Amino acid sequence: MEMMVELGALSYPIYIERGILNKVECHIKEKFNGKKIFIISDDRVYALYGECIESQLNGSYDCGSYIIPHGEQSKNFQMLSGIYSALLKAGITRSDLIIALGGGVVGDLAGFVAATYLRGIPFIQIPTSLLAQVDSSIGGKVAVDLPEGKNLVGAFYQPKMVLIDPNVLETLPKRYLKDGMGEVIKYGCIKDKELFELLEQSGSYENLKEHMTTVIYRCVNIKRDIVEKDQFDKGERMLLNFGHTLAHAIEQYCHYTRESHGEAVAEGMYQITRISEKKGFTKEGTAEAIGRILKMYGLPLKADIPMENLVSAITRDKKNFKNTLNLILLKEISESEIYPADIQYFDEVEMV
Ligand code: GLY
Repeated sequence: MEMMVELGALSYPIYIERGILNKVECHIKEKFNGKKIFIISDDRVYALYGECIESQLNGSYDCGSYIIPHGEQSKNFQMLSGIYSALLKAGITRSDLIIALGGGVVGDLAGFVAATYLRGIPFIQIPTSLLAQVDSSIGGKVAVDLPEGKNLVGAFYQPKMVLIDPNVLETLPKRYLKDGMGEVIKYGCIKDKELFELLEQSGSYENLKEHMTTVIYRCVNIKRDIVEKDQFDKGERMLLNFGHTLAHAIEQYCHYTRESHGEAVAEGMYQITRISEKKGFTKEGTAEAIGRILKMYGLPLKADIPMENLVSAITRDKKNFKNTLNLILLKEISESEIYPADIQYFDEVEMV
């Protein structure tokens, strides 16, 4: 399956296909006629797929690589200087290419390197986690973390191509699959009733597996559409933040040690819908439907943190300037809206 993200001169193709990892050279040749390719990956992903990709590219290109330790702690400024030095040492110029091979951390970091090294060189995304395949590899958000918070330094920098191989999910640890399923369910909630129904009918990841190419396609297609309309996140792109106001608060409150991002998003989606349903904004039964699906895919509904603690975390979140919150609420499944509110929205609201 193939689609184009139409962004004028920055347009790029996304290919979703089982086994596409074995055809990387062929796709790169379509787009790139330089001499050198530099792969940025992490130790886990590179051990699984590095050889497959490098052996294809070695015949036609001069290939280098930089392997970071896996995990969010690698997405920082210290890591950048080592990568920039390695790129210089390998003689990488603006006519060469970076490949980001890995999950969200690698994609964000390698994308930030590509956006900034020599004021920007081309890069392609080969996402290997479900979360990266359905979300972070598309749309050009690249970033590193600061000690004060996640993704606080970054850019909008589009890749030249995204290659998605659903087969790599076979080697993804279960917890990371669940992490990605949180975001998949989110797409159903905000825009796609058919996807929501497919998830419900399948009832478990085991049964959904055979449909994964379609599932990824549907999610990516929603993201493509949203990014085309609002590349710089000033309007419709905010819909992708459904569940995220509470999720970020939960993650911050627990210092990112308890829930994964997808698990926190799951709790956020269920809780905000329960609250907006109680306030009469959302059709009755919607929170229950979301809760049912989350449970099927092993995701949590409850954070067990008092609301006042989450409210302080929301207030501290540097993205919520001047007490204004753009909450994303559902009218019903697949109908989402940006709902401007302030922190008083959570007054007298209990977490369950
Ligand atoms: N991950 C949300 C966005 O790309 O806007």
